[in-house]
Amino acid sequence: MTTQKTAKLTLADGREHTLPVTVGSENEHALDIRALRNDTGYITLDTGYMNTGATTSAITYLDGEQGILRYRGYPIEELAEKSTFVETSYLLIHGRLPTQAELSEFSRKLTYHSMIHEGMRHFFEGFPDRSHPMAVLSAMVTSLSAYYPDCLDRDAPMDLHVTRIMSKVRTIAAFSYKKTIGQPIMYPRNALSYCANFLHMMFAVPAEPYEPDPVVVKAVNQLLILHADHEQNCSTSTVRLVGSSGANVYAAVAAGILALWGPLHGGANQAVIEMLEMIANPNGPYKGDHKKFINEVKDKKSNTRLMGFGHRVYKNYDPRAKILKAMADEVLDHLGVKDPMLDMAKAMEEVALKDDYFVSKKLYPNVDFYSGILYRAIGIPTEMFTVMFALGRIPGWLAHWKEMVEDPSQKIGRPRQIYTGPTVRHYVPIDQRTGG
Ligand code: ACO
Repeated sequence: MTTQKTAKLTLADGREHTLPVTVGSENEHALDIRALRNDTGYITLDTGYMNTGATTSAITYLDGEQGILRYRGYPIEELAEKSTFVETSYLLIHGRLPTQAELSEFSRKLTYHSMIHEGMRHFFEGFPDRSHPMAVLSAMVTSLSAYYPDCLDRDAPMDLHVTRIMSKVRTIAAFSYKKTIGQPIMYPRNALSYCANFLHMMFAVPAEPYEPDPVVVKAVNQLLILHADHEQNCSTSTVRLVGSSGANVYAAVAAGILALWGPLHGGANQAVIEMLEMIANPNGPYKGDHKKFINEVKDKKSNTRLMGFGHRVYKNYDPRAKILKAMADEVLDHLGVKDPMLDMAKAMEEVALKDDYFVSKKLYPNVDFYSGILYRAIGIPTEMFTVMFALGRIPGWLAHWKEMVEDPSQKIGRPRQIYTGPTVRHYVPIDQRTGG
């Protein structure tokens, strides 16, 4: 990272201000405005942060124009094919691929911390049966801080809390599912790998033996790797912002989970399946006619979006969607599942990619377009899709939180604003007010 170059800004009153230019390791350029307000009185205005770099970061590189995604320099395609979720998590959190001994130790710790306190297990009983699992997950992650109060101490053993969160979120996710279907919860089995153990807690029952299917275990590993980080997105920025106040890591991650929940972010995988089901419904407004739906999306007045399409950063095919599309074929084939939703999704993609509306706006399938179809095929219910996304994103959030708290130049996040309300006016007693 260099700051040798500069740029000149001429203000409305003719004053000139010199801005240092920061250049990243992939030649990305940023105007450094840190001294701008002090020197000129001006701030910048950038709703939705479309042009604002909130931080420098060495974790993930993303080039939306070229469709490139790399974790710590490693292409997502290589990691999805060759790595495991646990190894990729280590890479994100610690900055390099682990040796065999480091990986074994990290896996051992994840296994060791997989149980949740018995007191917390009773919390599940208090939630209504129809609770959305994202509500349960976020509340439970916040509650973990009550069981590990040393996390409130800035000098707390960071790696221990990081391992606890990664391991326990998996247990909480599975327990919250068991609660919704009224089955007894299944305790983790230490002999199983991270993803196999998750499948065991989700799908095993005490009455019979359960052996996770290795193809499904691999698919879950790949799905979680693809979701593991995506630089400064809405939820990750939330984790950083909450963490910047000094709030503990459980609070920061719980805030990330809540930010992820929205349908424009991680909630889109659930919204995609609901959209496909609505189009396919013979008694619904589209009766299987996906072209009618796409025409409605193109009509500005309808306010309808093709869920799973478009991205703030990708203006090319999302590399994760490409991997997921191929995976969907492979996994459904292995499981002998014939899902008409996959055929419809592919048909809609084909229509959209030839349509000027989508082409001109550079709208391509994103990570959520095919992930829901995969989750359905392996038995994950629709309401759990965003929980799966959260499970995958945990190491990314933890890596960003760790990078932030270890940075000595870190400051509390506090944007400014341009005020557009009334200028000063004086209090009028209620009996003298005219309204309006
Ligand atoms: N369907 C139809 N039109 C769309 C879509 C879509 N999915 N996405 C964007 N557009 C249109 C907008 O109407 C807008 O058109 P206009 O310029 O004529 O007004 C233009 O494309 C730009 O859209 P914005 O909403 O301004 O783009 P932004 O970068 O703010 O939004 C977002 C990105 C939120 C992802 C958007 O594409 C969207 O809503 N997609 C559907 C939801 C979704 O799949 N979200 C998951 C994203 S991936 C993730 O978070 C993991």
